[in-house]
Amino acid sequence: MKKIVVMSGKGGVGKSTVAANIAFALTMKGYKVGLLDSDLHGPSIPKILGLEDLKGLEVSEGKLKPAEVDGLKVVSIQFLLPSKDSPVVWRGPMKHKFLEQIFKDVDWGDLDYLIIDCPPGTGDEIISIFQLANPDAAVIVTTPQSVAIEDVRKAINFAKKAVGKIYLIENMSGLICPHCGKRIDVFGVGGGKKLAEEMGVKFLGEIPLDPEIMKSCENGKPFVKFDFDSAKVFRDIVDTLVKEV
Ligand SMILES: Nc1ncnc2c1ncn2[C@@H]1O[C@H](COP(=O)(O)OP(=O)(O)OP(=O)(O)O)[C@@H](O)[C@H]1O
Ligand SMILES: [Mg+2]
Repeated sequence: MKKIVVMSGKGGVGKSTVAANIAFALTMKGYKVGLLDSDLHGPSIPKILGLEDLKGLEVSEGKLKPAEVDGLKVVSIQFLLPSKDSPVVWRGPMKHKFLEQIFKDVDWGDLDYLIIDCPPGTGDEIISIFQLANPDAAVIVTTPQSVAIEDVRKAINFAKKAVGKIYLIENMSGLICPHCGKRIDVFGVGGGKKLAEEMGVKFLGEIPLDPEIMKSCENGKPFVKFDFDSAKVFRDIVDTLVKEV
């Protein structure tokens, strides 16, 4: 099984969107895939996959059974909280214990890939994930502007200490104006590619800022299964990832 973490130095750049859609795209290709939401304070995976009303996970022979969407196995702390709006108020050691438990007690079955969605930054949860999962690769998500790039550089340096294969994706990379068809570089352009070259990591591609992507997330449907252009761009990115990892 290959374990791939999806992370970034920055919040809100689309990590969870990318993680859920990589996992779903791999499932569509026929692989056996698990998706672990390791964002304990802001778990977004259930919403993105339309599992937000799911409460509790089945237990069989003392092991937790992941939830499933179209064959993709999913575990999020959200499924184990008393309600959708319950916060997790834990210090570092509690978070580590929880993640340790998840790695011990979830019966993923036989997987080809485990995709792990991380919270922003390089804090407690990420350190635990790298210790517990010993990932094969890290996919780092950035947006084009330097405010994001500066933090993402830190995340790359963090990942370099722990994992051999590091990939960068630029998300929210330009918007095609629905009125005139011209591209608007809302957050600038090319920052991701330049950063990848500078840091010696492989650049996987640019995902445009696309209202269709946002809408799919809102509706709990992975956008990668649709036919619009940015979904095609994303499928190409996943093809490259499969060849690499
Ligand atoms: N390429 C895109 N085009 C349009 N909307 C996008 C795109 N990528 C992500 N979004 C939207 O941006 C918002 C943030 O995305 P997401 O939750 O995946 O970010 P994140 O990096 O995981 O955030 P956090 O740091 O809070 O975990 C969501 O509403 C999502 O639908
Ligand atoms: Mg997220």
